[in-house]
Amino acid sequence: MLDQYKRPVNYLRISVTDRCNLRCRYCMPENDPCLLSHEDILSFEEIRDVVAVAVSMGVDKVRLTGGEPLVRKDIVDLVKMISGVPGVRDLSMTTNATLLARFAAPLAEAGLQRVNISLDTLDPEKFSTLTRGGDIRKVFAGIQAAKEAGFSPIKVNCVLGEKDDSRDAQDLKNYCRENGLQARFIKQMDLQTGHFGIVEGGSGGDCKHCNRLRLTSDGKVKPCLFSDLAYDIRVVGIREALEMALGNKPEKGTVSFSNCFHNIGG
Ligand code: 5AD
Ligand code: SF4
Repeated sequence: MLDQYKRPVNYLRISVTDRCNLRCRYCMPENDPCLLSHEDILSFEEIRDVVAVAVSMGVDKVRLTGGEPLVRKDIVDLVKMISGVPGVRDLSMTTNATLLARFAAPLAEAGLQRVNISLDTLDPEKFSTLTRGGDIRKVFAGIQAAKEAGFSPIKVNCVLGEKDDSRDAQDLKNYCRENGLQARFIKQMDLQTGHFGIVEGGSGGDCKHCNRLRLTSDGKVKPCLFSDLAYDIRVVGIREALEMALGNKPEKGTVSFSNCFHNIGG
């Protein structure tokens, strides 16, 4: 499908939960004031139906995000349902990898093809501070399991702050090179001020070539991370919500007051 600026849109990013088991300082508030209630969260059947309609409109690439997708109960079953939709050519997940040691093999078995792992530093102390208490050893175990499960490529997303992070970036580059991983560097974004940039080594943040729509965990289709536009599949219907998001996809991102990274998945 083409939007009004003739950009081909073939990529759907699905936030399957707004919960996370970490509390990265740039993403999650310490105690979450705006958690969605359980009845608002889409069921697996609803998510599968959105994927099926999106595929019929030209989507062939699907990514599961969060929050942290692996904290959603029975996530492997959801992956199986989505990979079973004919026409899904590329199925991936963005994860913090803390639970991946347990899930990598069953996810691969269920049809997940690739993972992007969020990791901003190799330093255990700094990791713990950044994530408010995370254990980096779990991430390394998760990366190991992802390699063993055969995911390819495995990308590592590294968010860089304003200062002080060039050492971490260099260390991560070396680590990724030595371990057969692809490093991607993302400048820390600010939705409210509209500060965003092009992802180094990736495709995000480039409005001219933006090919994506987003589905929030409570069923809203969003045409742009840096916009408050949203169309609720339960109110207007799945196809209509997708069509409205496509038709109203802004030429460029500006600002968003309704989006938070932890409920729209970056
Ligand atoms: N700026 C840039 N990236 C962010 N992410 C979360 N919050 C931000 C932010 N403020 C990224 C995470 C992860 C993905 C889910 O979104 O690092 O890679
Ligand atoms: Fe969780 Fe990822 Fe947000 Fe960190 S960046 S709090 S791991 S969703």
